[in-house]
Amino acid sequence: MNSRPGTSPTVAEPDWADLRSNFPILEKKTYLNNCAYGALATDVTNALQRYVRDRQEKGTDWAYWVERNDSVRNAVAGFLGADPNEIAVTASASAGINSVASALNFNQARKKVVISDFEFPTNAQIWYAQELRGAKVVRVPEKDGYIPVEHFEAAIDDETLIVAVTQICFRNGARLDIPALAEIARRKGALFLMDGYQVFGTVEFDVHRAGVDFAVGGTLKYLLGTAGIGFLYVREPLIENLVPTATGWFAQSDIFALDTTGYNPSSTARRFEMGTPPVPNCYAAEAGLQILKDVGLPAIEHRIGELTAAIKAEARKAGYSLAVPDDPDRHGAMITIRTHDEHALVGILENQGVVTSSRSGNLRISPHFYNNEDDIDSLFRALREQKHLLV
Ligand SMILES: Cc1ncc(COP(=O)(O)O)c(C=O)c1O
Repeated sequence: MNSRPGTSPTVAEPDWADLRSNFPILEKKTYLNNCAYGALATDVTNALQRYVRDRQEKGTDWAYWVERNDSVRNAVAGFLGADPNEIAVTASASAGINSVASALNFNQARKKVVISDFEFPTNAQIWYAQELRGAKVVRVPEKDGYIPVEHFEAAIDDETLIVAVTQICFRNGARLDIPALAEIARRKGALFLMDGYQVFGTVEFDVHRAGVDFAVGGTLKYLLGTAGIGFLYVREPLIENLVPTATGWFAQSDIFALDTTGYNPSSTARRFEMGTPPVPNCYAAEAGLQILKDVGLPAIEHRIGELTAAIKAEARKAGYSLAVPDDPDRHGAMITIRTHDEHALVGILENQGVVTSSRSGNLRISPHFYNNEDDIDSLFRALREQKHLLV
């Protein structure tokens, strides 16, 4: 948990070349854009085709589809070290954050929401929207591409209701020390929500050991599923006292009671779900999560650590300016390099078959376990010809 990628010495080495063959795009492209969307595995393609076949052959099969939804819940719980009753399967990270926000009362002494400059837009916008319901948002600024723990210590106080921060910044890849931040929130009597979207699937992470109250993520990036499905972890003792007002029939205690006379939320984290589950996406998510389970997170963490270290070394050798902190304890799977024109650079690379992305002027290079040193060579060969676009 929160250990440094690439430092685990006891991990048995999987057959990376063989695992790579599950991802057809890697034969055609240098795909280094997992921070935006994971590569599509043949296993996931097959799962999506199975959904289509099930529709064609069985028509409607709600019992089986609810099972698929529960299977995603169980798999996510396994990955996070949580109990399945602590997991809501949602349509997005936004849906999970909104559901938690809807259960909070801001009309009291504790009304502050502490976020940071590193948030993905949704985890800022949703909390600013709560200002219409009485919340007061405080934003902890970044300094030179990082936010030290002490700056959160100063911002979190006895008026803070919830601290809601991302673990890895989607713009520069900087990684915050979530267990340390969760400890500050706990000590000061505030709730703590983490956005783990850019970290889940890249390292072992245990929500209980990290001491977080809520965690949100989704399957389209490093978890190898697809868009349109996410999840929310809620620490068990909190569930019964949090009653979401953004709700739906899949949040009810008995979904198929179809009761229209009242609101009877589930006693588990399912109370944070809403309407009809994203059934096709459940098939994809199940298959993606199974790949990660088979490879094993310790091995994945180790491999990503090797690849990110190699990317930083190549960038340094070429004299490029890293936008991400160099310290491996302060970044995740995404390495960023400063550019003069991010869109021109990403477009040129794309035309050469190298898939990356950019944010806030930074080129984002984000390997997964299926990338290799040849991918890194191809990227830096292409970058050498575009030196004028790099800072
Ligand atoms: C850190 C982070 N949080 C959240 C999201 C996506 O949120 P949602 O599932 O609400 O679209 C992303 C996607 O890029 C992200 O990088």
